[in-house]
Amino acid sequence: MRKPFVAGNWKMNLNKANSVALASQLSDIDVGETVDVAICPPSVYLDCVSTALGDGQVRLGAQDVYYQEKGAFTGEISPAMLADVGCRYAILGHSERRHVIGETDELINKKVHAALAGGLIPIVCVGELLEQREAGQTMDVIRAQFTGSLANLDAAKMENVVIAYEPVWAIGTGQVASPEQAEEVHSDLRKLLENSYNQEVAQSVRIQYGGSVKPDNALDLLAQPNIDGALVGGASLKADDFAAIIKAAKV
Ligand code: 13P
Repeated sequence: MRKPFVAGNWKMNLNKANSVALASQLSDIDVGETVDVAICPPSVYLDCVSTALGDGQVRLGAQDVYYQEKGAFTGEISPAMLADVGCRYAILGHSERRHVIGETDELINKKVHAALAGGLIPIVCVGELLEQREAGQTMDVIRAQFTGSLANLDAAKMENVVIAYEPVWAIGTGQVASPEQAEEVHSDLRKLLENSYNQEVAQSVRIQYGGSVKPDNALDLLAQPNIDGALVGGASLKADDFAAIIKAAKV
């Protein structure tokens, strides 16, 4: 049985005071044992958010990581630095990093290996653009991102990876994928896992859905057999909305 996992990606939002206040509100949520929860604030606020979360059930994640351990890499942050401030997860290959910053599958793959070596759980994002979906290329794109971003991982490593399917056209647009559209890709991703590894890996890897997840659509999305949680942007910035999505994951 896969434990649902709900993560909030705060992106480049909030300031220090808002971040600490939101984290404090979230630390009061009774998460329980049946769902994993994490929030991923901007890197400058990881440390104070970590303190605000304390030893509670809401865990900390970063929005990116660099693949080198240390040295002359101006502006970058290593896996060890993230672990040092209490991070358990790192989002990698988010569509905004792929399409705005220009990250490639090759770079993302190096980050996945480095994150795992540094004891972090990577949340690896895949997802097609609207024009790719309209051209019937969705699974070709997903397959290429899966193969490239997750290259050279053995089964034991793959079992520590979380995949997030985030159709780019659904991110921040309010245009959520229907539960059927999302489930189709999730079940194809699980088949990819089975073909690339084995049944055990396919059944254990969690696949989150992301893209305009809100309290009013979370239940239907999370009811799909191959949707194992949510990667939430906008709705994770409001404690009540995020709490409602966590509640939906428990049902
Ligand atoms: P929204 O929930 O704001 O659409 O963002 C989704 C996302 O990109 C999470 O990583």
